[in-house]
Amino acid sequence: MDLQAIMNLDEQYYMNTFGKRTPVCFTHGKGIHLYDTDGTEYTDFLAGIAVSALGHCHPTLTKALHEQVDKLLHTSSSYYIENQALLAEQIVKHSAADKVFFANSGAEANEGAIKLAKMYFYKKNQPEKNEIITLTNSFHGRTLACVAATGQAKYQKPYKPLVPGFSHVPLNDFDALASAVTDKTAAIMMELCQGESGVRPATQDYVDKVVALCREKEILLIVDEVQTGMGRTGTWFSYEHYGITPDIFTLAKGLGGGVPIGALCAKDSVCAFSPGDHGGTFGGNPLATAAGLAVFKAIDEENLVENAKTIGAYLKDALTALKKEFSVIQDVRGLGLLIGVEFSEPIAKNVLGALFDRHYVANAVGDTILRLAPPLILTKKDADDFVAVLTDILKGE
Ligand SMILES: Cc1ncc(COP(=O)(O)O)c(C=O)c1O
Repeated sequence: MDLQAIMNLDEQYYMNTFGKRTPVCFTHGKGIHLYDTDGTEYTDFLAGIAVSALGHCHPTLTKALHEQVDKLLHTSSSYYIENQALLAEQIVKHSAADKVFFANSGAEANEGAIKLAKMYFYKKNQPEKNEIITLTNSFHGRTLACVAATGQAKYQKPYKPLVPGFSHVPLNDFDALASAVTDKTAAIMMELCQGESGVRPATQDYVDKVVALCREKEILLIVDEVQTGMGRTGTWFSYEHYGITPDIFTLAKGLGGGVPIGALCAKDSVCAFSPGDHGGTFGGNPLATAAGLAVFKAIDEENLVENAKTIGAYLKDALTALKKEFSVIQDVRGLGLLIGVEFSEPIAKNVLGALFDRHYVANAVGDTILRLAPPLILTKKDADDFVAVLTDILKGE
């Protein structure tokens, strides 16, 4: 099908929740490259927003999926599922969690986290402790509880009344957080590097104080690792940068390398769910968990966490160096291969368009921030090529 025919079909039959999409349809990919309906090659510096951690059609993931498709797609949670148990083991072995529950998306994993925090205090006979503080400009997903958790009015306005019990305070403002805490606060939920609001990391001092506050007031710390987990930030999970271990954290995006899967991960001490308290038809089915296992295997075998750290630092340094030449670059920030380039003028969408014209895929957050989240297999040469292209664009060439 040619692009115009696909666009026509989409316009007629698909709900327009994404606005005007970039006029391209990718039909296949290999490594960090995507190919469109005309066979034109693009370089992917977005990875489907931090999803395709291994790039496209990574042989380990492709082989594992082919083998699983030939064997079994789905059974039911009433029966044991080998891949589910194995993937839970991998997450626990690589993280601070003791137990895992699988969902199908980041929002669904976050719903599970919110429910688990409430259940924890309910089972402790403290049902009044049922409120959750999250951060302004956070993003936690599109379900109703996650919309209430997300500290951005634009996502909430049409869906009032919102799920009650959520309040929001600005990132890195400890005093605001401390004053928002009440006897009803069950959990503080945060991204340690806010992705959707423009790649904004929390400071060490802030996180240290948050952890101390949680301990003092018996509040659970939930870290949303949906965008930052699975090696993206140069550590397996972003909380490692801060030397902390959350009570609960959530995963999705990179975990399946492109296959939908989410995970609710928790320390034993907070695993308050009993049979019947939570569930789901598809979560952790044999296919999705085969993908997760292959992603862990490839990241481990190819040292991709280390690669995200070194190539991420290399790319960030190279972009930071551009600040000397182009005063329009105000800030370059991020962790590992999650990088934001903030401009002093509203040119992010123009830069994104110019990158696209040169066959690079990236993302703009608002009018001033360019977000990069390339596959973790990125090489120095890929980073150099990108910086050269961005330099040309900023020179106006
Ligand atoms: C930090 C964070 N949490 C949750 C979500 C929601 O994940 P999903 O779109 O898989 O529901 C996202 C998606 O962008 C995210 O970045």
